[in-house]
Amino acid sequence: MNSPSVSSKRNDRVNACPTGLNPRRMPDHIAVIMDGNGRWAKAKGLPRIMGHRAGVEALKRTLRLCNDWGIGTLTVYAFSTENWGRPGDEVNFLMALFERVLQKELDSLQQEQVRIKFLGDLDLLPPGLQQSIGEATELTSANKGIHFNVCTNYGGRRELVVAAQRLAARSLKGELDPALIDENVFSGELFTAGEVDPDLLIRTSGERRISNFLLWQLAYSEIHITDVLWPDFDATALREAISDYQSRSRRFGALDPIDSDYSDNS
Ligand code: FPP
Repeated sequence: MNSPSVSSKRNDRVNACPTGLNPRRMPDHIAVIMDGNGRWAKAKGLPRIMGHRAGVEALKRTLRLCNDWGIGTLTVYAFSTENWGRPGDEVNFLMALFERVLQKELDSLQQEQVRIKFLGDLDLLPPGLQQSIGEATELTSANKGIHFNVCTNYGGRRELVVAAQRLAARSLKGELDPALIDENVFSGELFTAGEVDPDLLIRTSGERRISNFLLWQLAYSEIHITDVLWPDFDATALREAISDYQSRSRRFGALDPIDSDYSDNS
């Protein structure tokens, strides 16, 4: 049976769903690789950092739309473990931007009941940013609205290695029988523990790569790639992505009953 919060979320979704989308087939969890900030800025003759500033506006827009449309979880790729290889000025700008935006938007996140979490190796982030992350995570932890996960200094392979290390340590201490490690136990050690896997992955700017993002969690996600550059991502682009998702037949490796020779016609 559905808990009251799940069914009321479904009702909200039926009310809020934009025309043209099926309210009963909305994704519960959307993951986004926000790509194309630099190209957006270059096309306008602006410095790359202006692309990141505009990217923040696209992110605020997308979070609000997902919340309004009853999406349960939005997980975005803000900074990868590989992004440290960018020029120092750009990395410093991004770190300062994350901290500033987090502080500036905290009140509205709270008002809109957003539960924010940062996923990744947070210990390596600048101390001021770590502090803002700690405060925002704590303040919003009991919120009942959308789960908003910001992957920061995140790498999918690193996440899997750390999960394996944790399980090995528990086994060595005698707390865990290695034979009992199954997919549930394993996913409980990931940054996304307790979250449903993404139904839909959106990647902007036309690139066709996973780029070390949520390697475990994306196993059965539908992938939507759009040429729209991240700063231009808006309600139309999100509607198109969800409409594409709704057109897919999700079989999770099995057969569609209608296509199956084994279907029971009796
Ligand atoms: C990719 O575009 C974008 C990033 C590496 C940064 C994304 C960050 C934001 C949108 C800001 C998020 C803010 C908060 C508070 C979480 P790119 O620079 O790789 O663009 P390019 O491929 O065109 O060069």
